[in-house]
Amino acid sequence: MFDIWNRRYTGSKYKLSSWIGELIEENCNGSSFCDIFAGTGIISYTMLDKMKKIYINDFLYSNEVIYKAFFEPSDYDKKLISEYCSCFQSLSADDIDENYISINFGGKFFSHTDAKLIGHIREIIESDKEKLSDKEFSILLASLLYSADKSANTVGHYDAYIKGHDIPDTFTFDLIAPYKSKKSLIFISREDSNEFAKKLKCDIVKRNHRIR
Ligand SMILES: C[S@@+](CC[C@H](N)C(=O)[O-])C[C@H]1O[C@@H](n2cnc3c(N)ncnc32)[C@H](O)[C@@H]1O
Repeated sequence: MFDIWNRRYTGSKYKLSSWIGELIEENCNGSSFCDIFAGTGIISYTMLDKMKKIYINDFLYSNEVIYKAFFEPSDYDKKLISEYCSCFQSLSADDIDENYISINFGGKFFSHTDAKLIGHIREIIESDKEKLSDKEFSILLASLLYSADKSANTVGHYDAYIKGHDIPDTFTFDLIAPYKSKKSLIFISREDSNEFAKKLKCDIVKRNHRIR
């Protein structure tokens, strides 16, 4: 199973997260915390249960899905999730048609076989969206993102991939492990931080970029 930090992400503060958490605790007063350019969400994770309110914001849809999957407190059907997982793990690329991912990213970010599997699983999650709660949909999609990231032929940012060598088939679908906060209320948003900052009421804000 994947934890939130099992992701290759340019600018991730994973290795600094304990130190950043200690600095916040030692130097800042307050009970509400905002991770306004949250990226992987690792800093929000570090502050979990240390703050009454945690605001997690990033303008990428993929990140919003991941925050919902890991932090949204709603219940979900664990048996259903595990059935999807078994189904995805038993797929064979030989039985799968070409799809968006295999056509565009096969042989680049993923082997052609892995790309077929990733594209097919993405299609199933989308076509079953109505049958799933928002939490279940987010868990499956976040799990696919983490699984795909593990097999990707890149250093972590998807504008470039490693050329000039064969890409092995390494993809296996695995699930993320959601967290249940005991003390923190979580507020997830997908907004431009420049706009979000104007209406935010919060004691401590962690930022990576200059807010204009
Ligand atoms: C360097 S990463 C943050 C890393 C994060 N602290 C971590 O440890 O994973 C910067 C993040 O800011 C987000 N971002 C950049 N400009 C933004 C904006 N104007 N509004 C919201 N999010 C933004 C990007 O999508 C990216 O995920």
